[in-house]
Amino acid sequence: MGSLPFELFQPLDPDVFSKESHAVVDFIADYYRDIEQYPVRSQVEPGYLSKRLPESPPIFSEPIDTILGDIKKDIIPGLTHWQSPNFYAYFQANASTAGFLGEMLCTGFNVVGFNWIASPAATELESIVMDWMAKMMKLPSKFLFSGGQGGGGVLHGSTCEAVVCTLAAARDKILNKFGFDCITKLVVYASDQTHFTVQKASKIIGIPPCNFRSIPTSASSGYGLDADDVRQAMKVDIAQGFMPLYLCATVGTTAVGAVDPLLELGQVAREFGVWFHVDGAYAGSSAICPEFRSYFDGVELADSISMNPHKWFLTNMDCCCLWLRSPAELVDSLSTNPEILRNKATDEKEVVDYKDWQIALSRRFRAMKLWLVIRRYGVAGLMEHIRSDVGLAKHFEKLVRMDTRFEVVVPRRFSLVCFRLKPRFGATNDDDGLKTNRRLLDAVNSSGRAFMTHALIDGKFVIRFAIGTTLTEMCHVDATWKLIQDIATGLLL
Ligand SMILES: Cc1ncc(COP(=O)(O)O)c(C=O)c1O
Repeated sequence: MGSLPFELFQPLDPDVFSKESHAVVDFIADYYRDIEQYPVRSQVEPGYLSKRLPESPPIFSEPIDTILGDIKKDIIPGLTHWQSPNFYAYFQANASTAGFLGEMLCTGFNVVGFNWIASPAATELESIVMDWMAKMMKLPSKFLFSGGQGGGGVLHGSTCEAVVCTLAAARDKILNKFGFDCITKLVVYASDQTHFTVQKASKIIGIPPCNFRSIPTSASSGYGLDADDVRQAMKVDIAQGFMPLYLCATVGTTAVGAVDPLLELGQVAREFGVWFHVDGAYAGSSAICPEFRSYFDGVELADSISMNPHKWFLTNMDCCCLWLRSPAELVDSLSTNPEILRNKATDEKEVVDYKDWQIALSRRFRAMKLWLVIRRYGVAGLMEHIRSDVGLAKHFEKLVRMDTRFEVVVPRRFSLVCFRLKPRFGATNDDDGLKTNRRLLDAVNSSGRAFMTHALIDGKFVIRFAIGTTLTEMCHVDATWKLIQDIATGLLL
């Protein structure tokens, strides 16, 4: 029940803002203090929340303390705790104090910098931060605004959006030349490990689903895409009257962290005149460390590159960097020029109007967040963060290899290890360990003490151990490994 409306209705009163924000910050700080007490994967049943919350909204306002109390009581049990140090599932989505503060400032200012004049600082900071990030990752200067060759970058909310936009640019470039009827002939190429975002984006931009080529990979290439296979697929398509459009290579695939050979694939893309996109959603962050930069050799052949600071770069959701060799091609595809947005700076082509680099008109001041993260931790701190996660993953891989009941199915890449119980331990021959490993994973996750997810690789059910939560330390990795071993022992008995 809401209270009677005694208080004045002042939704942005600075004093109330300060008092209630402090209450929320304290609440979140307590959440982080207590996070290890919660089951990592939520244990609720579907539909649990509607049984707890009222059917109708309150008529009168409710105090923040009451709402926070309900969050603790009703919402937290339904959270899967992505920031728990024992979260090893899916992919990293790490958070930090600077990421949170940057998000606070972004939300606090709540400006909508769709074009330069709508908030010059938002646009200009974004262009500067994109150049900073590119420099940290040692991207070729042609992707930087300051490179002076027409390149530049933009912040999107997700890789999915970035891929849709680059596909639209690639599509329009070719259709403007050959006519819009050709759309049914356009073909998109990726590997069977490529994130499904590329297939989805192809559909969204009107590529017939049967024109998406998912090229098989194998253990022999570490699940990387073979350039000759791509070349062959393109030749076959051309012989049949199709038009190769777009090739996506990944550095750090979602399931196993595989790396596609950018140089060879970029050369194939050049040979056939297709748009070459590099997806470094997760592992792109590692490029700031010299020892990982070689995975990006060949990136100079890309038309576009994307990576998510919201995965492994201490930047709270959401934040995706997209760089283009020629943003003009993106703008050609996405720009609109309605009278209500006209202004002198735009008319005189003096400025970047980021509304033409993305799907939506409205946009968040994400640059503030990324800028805070980079400034607060510095390049040295960010490198340390990546290296420490990789170190923990190496340690975990060693633990797995020391227990002869287990095998590492795909050697560690970045901070991801894929392992399983060997089939001869407890599995019937016909399921190749699938059932036992599934039971092992279910038991670990149901314990609430850790959360991991799986992948199917060459028909093998593998358990993915993805390290990257900011709070994870060696003691958590060791304790989780002991938990896995103990549960495995119980299962095998
Ligand atoms: C390699 C890769 N690409 C793309 C994505 C999708 O990212 P987003 O959720 O930002 O669209 C992911 C997410 O896991 C990923 O790992």
